[in-house]
Amino acid sequence: MRDIHSIDDLRRRAKRRLPAMVYDFIEGGALDELTLRRNREALEAQLLPQRVLVDTSQRHATASILGTRLDLPLVVSPMGLLTVCHPDADVAIARAAATAGSVFTHSPWSGCSLEEVTDAAPGRVWAQIAFWNDASETERHIDRAAALGIDTLVVAGDVAVSSKRDRDLRHGTGMPPNPPLRDVIDTALHPGWVLRWLLGRRITWGSYRIDGRPIRMGEMDAWMDRNSNQAATWGDVARLRSRWKGNLVIKGVMTQADARLAVEHGADGVFVSNHGGRQFDGQLATIEALPSVVDAVDGRAAVIMDGGIRRGSDIAKALSLGADVVAAGRPFALGLAAGAQPGVEKAFELLRDELLTVMGFLGVVRIDGLPDSLCASHDAREGIEVAP
Ligand SMILES: Cc1cc2nc3c(=O)[nH]c(=O)nc-3n(C[C@H](O)[C@H](O)[C@H](O)COP(=O)(O)O)c2cc1C
Repeated sequence: MRDIHSIDDLRRRAKRRLPAMVYDFIEGGALDELTLRRNREALEAQLLPQRVLVDTSQRHATASILGTRLDLPLVVSPMGLLTVCHPDADVAIARAAATAGSVFTHSPWSGCSLEEVTDAAPGRVWAQIAFWNDASETERHIDRAAALGIDTLVVAGDVAVSSKRDRDLRHGTGMPPNPPLRDVIDTALHPGWVLRWLLGRRITWGSYRIDGRPIRMGEMDAWMDRNSNQAATWGDVARLRSRWKGNLVIKGVMTQADARLAVEHGADGVFVSNHGGRQFDGQLATIEALPSVVDAVDGRAAVIMDGGIRRGSDIAKALSLGADVVAAGRPFALGLAAGAQPGVEKAFELLRDELLTVMGFLGVVRIDGLPDSLCASHDAREGIEVAP
């Protein structure tokens, strides 16, 4: 990891190591990728105010969210199918997150089971749940999370429909995949990946079973056709709230209306997310939606935001605009592909060090001292309070 200096370096290394169809599955977005790009562009357009001559010798970035103390205000977004990056997949990311004093969010579509990741990182795992057609399948998942001592459930709010992803269609990426000859050749030209895949864990969903074993890739589309539920509503959230005693977070909240509904239905947290631009193309960047969601929540729930976080300064920007913590997906998936658990640890280290550096420039020593009023056309004449 000595020649890795940024998340983008991890991305470049991952790109070299992965077949193109796998790399594009991770990096790509829906349709024209407008929202994917907008997440980054809108973050880049935000400007932070430099302050000088402040004693910042004792900076730390500790935070807390929903009763969990974090060494940095960053958690791992839920991501399915990461066994395509590396067989250790979710277990490696969960361990790296625990080492970094963060939290790993397990996805219902994760290759490793909920039990495996809680074993690997006790007390450092949140569980995502989806509302399936068969409500008892969802209830079993909730009860498993409770039995494993997990304290926070994240509802997959934005998966009722799935978007086309043109890159995936071109590669024939599906479940099962149907790649054109050029992708078969490209994959063969990545023998390291092929070997890891052959020797390691196959691409499965670790948390669901067919005939007592994890669901295999060739069975996934059919399972989703049977189980995905386009009729889920806030009524399901209300039923979940009465069954689940722990923290409840709704992921995919991009509007004030949904933020209010989440709070009214007893959510402890709202997760501002557009799925990293992988679902609904042509909507706002998350950093653009964040301030109005924060406004609507009005301190009644924690606010988490993901989408496009690639630098420590991005974390500072999101926190300045009202997020309690941020989350990230691809930086950790790319770290995993670039270098297994040490690659994910590197992603955490880079983002933490960059955040601490930017805090020095901002003249703050704690994250609650970050400026609370920055905008794309920040007016430097306005004084911004500096932490004492
Ligand atoms: C490979 C991959 C798989 C994902 N799977 C899920 C998932 O299972 N559930 C979910 O809510 N979001 C999923 N997401 C979206 C992430 O949770 C997160 O919202 C997004 O990655 C944030 O944007 P970023 O990658 O720019 O950090 C996935 C993202 C990626 C890259």
